[in-house]
Amino acid sequence: MLQRVEPADLDALYLDHVADLERRVARVLEQQGWDALVIESGTPAKRSQFDDQYWALRPCPHFQHWVPLAEAECALVVRPGQRTKLLRAGSTSFWEKPAPPDSTAFERALDVVRVAGDTARRAHQGPGRVAIVGEGREGPSSLVKALDALRTTKTPYEVACLAEANRRARAGHDALREAFRGGDASELDLHLLFLKATRQDDGETPYKNIVALGESAATLHHVAYGRQARGRAAESLLVDAAATCRGYSSDVTRTWFKGAGAAASAFAQLVAGVEAMQQRLCRAVRVGLPYEDLHDESHRQVAAILRETGLVTASVEEAVSGGITRAFYPHGLGHSLGLQTHDVGCGLRAPRGDNPFLRNTSEVAVGQVFTVEPGVYFIEALLAELRAKPAGAGVSWRAVEALAPLGGVRIEDDLLVLPDGARNLTREHLPEGGGAA
Ligand code: GLY
Ligand code: MN
Ligand code: MN
Repeated sequence: MLQRVEPADLDALYLDHVADLERRVARVLEQQGWDALVIESGTPAKRSQFDDQYWALRPCPHFQHWVPLAEAECALVVRPGQRTKLLRAGSTSFWEKPAPPDSTAFERALDVVRVAGDTARRAHQGPGRVAIVGEGREGPSSLVKALDALRTTKTPYEVACLAEANRRARAGHDALREAFRGGDASELDLHLLFLKATRQDDGETPYKNIVALGESAATLHHVAYGRQARGRAAESLLVDAAATCRGYSSDVTRTWFKGAGAAASAFAQLVAGVEAMQQRLCRAVRVGLPYEDLHDESHRQVAAILRETGLVTASVEEAVSGGITRAFYPHGLGHSLGLQTHDVGCGLRAPRGDNPFLRNTSEVAVGQVFTVEPGVYFIEALLAELRAKPAGAGVSWRAVEALAPLGGVRIEDDLLVLPDGARNLTREHLPEGGGAA
């Protein structure tokens, strides 16, 4: 088990990260003929046009790439050859105040200037050709693409933040496993427990916690939490929930089961199959491999698991080509991870038509961080469609009906690509992907 990444170590890595960004962004600006780049932090979005409430600011990720600061109306001025400037528009509101930053190391890395809000806007008028990037701005698309590409491979600072975000998720997953074993918590209780154990407010989580008891796991992003305790009636729990560190996300899914009936033991076999497959796929990650090949391999392995668990009688080839696996496993194997849970950079080209939801179509490269998250679900609408097709004859519908109340299984880890394989940032803290609670 790895220890927490110390804030002082993160600060030291952060200073190198900014120096590295200055070098790489200067090259991009020169290649594209810009004299300077202004990146805005953003403005809080209104919750509805009909009232005067605002969501907490989600800073523009291009801004966060430089500064882990969730403060509205700031601007960063990157002008090669000069120290990068952060124009910080201190709020004068007596209604609200932004949370203090986790670290003030940015004061050492950048030239921080306190300005009034409109002064920050005047930063855009500096000499020469100035590109502006920010929420709601139509930044020059080739420049935004190049900046996205810089975010695809992570610096040691970013890796340390992602590792720490994984460590922070652990307490939540441990607490939910235990509470589920005890048996009396509703989905809402479990969601609140995850927040409490990880010391996060709901708006601070990298994405809304997905907490699904029983058949709810068949809704891939189940966030309409049930209020009723299900006790022994819910024999499975899928938790897709995580934490952040200085703006960087982890993204972790675990699936637990309990109970002793025939359905529970068939589900146990399914979870064990998905867990073993997920680990095989993680071990298969290597530099140069097209991620879509790994996704295709996951379909072949899902087909084999469906056969082994008696859910499917068709051959592996028929199950894949006939769309059977796509009804049980409709999403992509994984996605790039960083400042956004579904991060930029690994989906530069569209996937093949039969993989419509695959977000990672890159060639695996050193420094990428992405998820590996296969699953098998009992999704009523997709299975009804399959049943009406000739390929539906290759499914054992009785077995499907017996397992449908357990919803499904997904197991998700976050991987950093190394020259000779991958480092699993999640298993360093959560060694089991799923199993008996
Ligand atoms: N938590 C969302 C996802 O796994 O993509
Ligand atoms: Mn994910
Ligand atoms: Mn997830």
